[in-house]
Amino acid sequence: MGQTAKIQCGDQGFEVPLIVGSEGETALDIRQLRAKTGMITYDPGYGNTGACLSAVTFIDGEKGILRYRGYPIEQLAEKSTFLEVAMLLLNGELPRKDELVSFTGEITRHTMIHEDMKWLYRSLPKDAHPMAVCAAVVGALSTFYPGLQDNTDSTKVNAAILRLMAKLPTIAAGAHKHSIGQPFIYPDNSLDYCSNFLKMMFGTPCEPYMVDPVVARALDRLLILHADHEQNCSTSSVRMVGSSQPPLYASISAGISALWGPLHGGANQEVIEMLERIEREEGSAENFLDRAKDRNDTTKLMGFGHRVYKNHDPRALILKATAREVLERLGVRSKLLEIAMKLEERALSDDYFVSRKLYPNVDFYSGIIYKAIGIPVNMFTVLFAIGRLPGWIAHWKEMHADREARISRPRQVYTGAQKRDYVAIAQR
Ligand code: SDX
Repeated sequence: MGQTAKIQCGDQGFEVPLIVGSEGETALDIRQLRAKTGMITYDPGYGNTGACLSAVTFIDGEKGILRYRGYPIEQLAEKSTFLEVAMLLLNGELPRKDELVSFTGEITRHTMIHEDMKWLYRSLPKDAHPMAVCAAVVGALSTFYPGLQDNTDSTKVNAAILRLMAKLPTIAAGAHKHSIGQPFIYPDNSLDYCSNFLKMMFGTPCEPYMVDPVVARALDRLLILHADHEQNCSTSSVRMVGSSQPPLYASISAGISALWGPLHGGANQEVIEMLERIEREEGSAENFLDRAKDRNDTTKLMGFGHRVYKNHDPRALILKATAREVLERLGVRSKLLEIAMKLEERALSDDYFVSRKLYPNVDFYSGIIYKAIGIPVNMFTVLFAIGRLPGWIAHWKEMHADREARISRPRQVYTGAQKRDYVAIAQR
């Protein structure tokens, strides 16, 4: 019998087993709690609740540590590529060269979307948010690949995963082209993953489009930094939806929708809009910080704070350095970067933020790089989704491989009206 903990309820005591993770994280195993005590736990937002055992990503929020399958994010951002990181997340190990070449080739040959999918875009308003478009088109993939819906057939699952990894950049670029009334640009199989996306985003049929390698490398690093983050809101949504066994595409569409929210992936767009507002309204940084600290004001310092990180988000540290490096190499001077760095400096010396351990998160600097490489603001969160896709799929795979996995169905504490009888309308 492993370690246990004792829960005392009045004069009744209950032993519960402890689960200890490979990095020493310890959990009370309360799977028998309700059967033994008739009681449940209450933890809105699940800030204290482990929903699963996972070997994909490790975060130590107090120390600002992030590792994908044990590899530190700093090393992967510097030395790896996005498709190599995707294989690491999906398969658990860094690929051999021949495996990476084969995977890359498979991805390249599945980048086109069915021509009929373009009617789906045309049915949507031009000003539809690209995240809404991507969620709709990804959800519709299951109708174009009905033969890939058996989640128990690994060959079909792998084919579905490959198509998603290959087609999401094409679907995303299509959302942008639809919004600006330009023709879709077909994938170019002579280009690498990020260069291909940039050409589909910014190329036109009228002239050749040359990809800037600095921009392509910056985008590749951005995708690596967004590739996974354990049980965040969108990944938990992918797991929750996936637990009822719909096709993979349905779960990923749910993940895209959850990521869209301004408190989650949508924050990168909100950060730029916040910085631009501060730039327009000269000297409003102090005013902004005052509003962000005011409990009666819903304003938040977007890109700051995190449920897990109570120290620097390691991705934000890398992105801050990358922003400087990319802007310098592109010869771009960004007033927004200066404002962001000044905001960070002021916030990190302000007791409101320091006492609440609020630091810049992944979204605080990412938008500055996206803007510098020409990505439209309404596409920032879409880029986050392209990066997060292998993480979502890795967790979906891990859940489906777990023999103990069950459909997710949380309990509640009911606080509504007690039993009462129907009253005829004439008596109300
Ligand atoms: C991502 O989970 C992940 O891993 C997510 C992510 C990933 O890779 O998947 O890392 C990506 O979503 C990053 C977060 C992007 N969101 C933002 O930047 C939006 C701004 N941040 C906040 O909304 C907030 O910090 C959250 C949502 C990120 C975290 O919220 P929590 O954990 O529920 O914390 P909280 O709201 O309870 O805040 C605790 C206190 C509160 O004040 P008091 O009640 O103590 O007075 O801190 C305050 C909050 O008001 N606070 C902020 C703040 N964030 C928290 N005050 C001002 N500005 C902020 N940004």
